[in-house]
Amino acid sequence: MIYRPIVLDQEIQFSKKKFIVSKTDLKGNILFVNKNFCEISGYSEEELVGSPHNTLRHPDMPRSIFFLVWKSLLSGRDVSGVVKNLAKSGKYYWVISDFSVKRDEAGNISSFSSFRRAAPQQVIDTVEELYATMSSIEKKHGMEGSLSYLESFLEEQQMSYDDFLGELIKPKGLLGKLLEAFKNMFG
Ligand SMILES: Cc1cc2nc3c(=O)[nH]c(=O)nc-3n(C[C@H](O)[C@H](O)[C@H](O)COP(=O)(O)O)c2cc1C
Repeated sequence: MIYRPIVLDQEIQFSKKKFIVSKTDLKGNILFVNKNFCEISGYSEEELVGSPHNTLRHPDMPRSIFFLVWKSLLSGRDVSGVVKNLAKSGKYYWVISDFSVKRDEAGNISSFSSFRRAAPQQVIDTVEELYATMSSIEKKHGMEGSLSYLESFLEEQQMSYDDFLGELIKPKGLLGKLLEAFKNMFG
């Protein structure tokens, strides 16, 4: 499916208990979506399954953030991220996404999955500014430029990318437990 909505500066907000799930093949083509995914993105299951995941790509997202996600997943490591997604209506919604690697019985990587939850405002405020700077650097200096900016941003805070995300997005209390239980349901 190739569908490019007109981007609207309008946010879709959704309950923090609504987890959005998808599974992809090794190239990022969607294999599975749950009901919340369809409801919040505005696409039907038929439109999504078989399509590349960049259907949801929002133009405000720096390419380098996805580069880091893919680098990690293809090397077999789970990773998280904060992502602004583009719904079919052209509106956007922010999610915290935990990406994980699925393996077959022989231990080979067979697919990837993503569990998303609504991003709290303070998380959005932090990354929005960072992503805007990264995107404008990317336009002039490509991904190398935005990655080296991210590196210096993290150095300033004396943190690795994993530490930075960990502090920012770790689910607290009941939500963390709910999320773990939900992930186990999907295997
Ligand atoms: C499991 C999984 C879930 C993904 N979910 C999203 C998503 O919700 N939104 C998004 O823009 N990209 C998502 N991606 C990343 C896309 O595959 C793609 O790299 C990204 O949209 C950037 O598009 P581009 O490579 O065409 O620039 C996901 C990738 C994987 C492996």
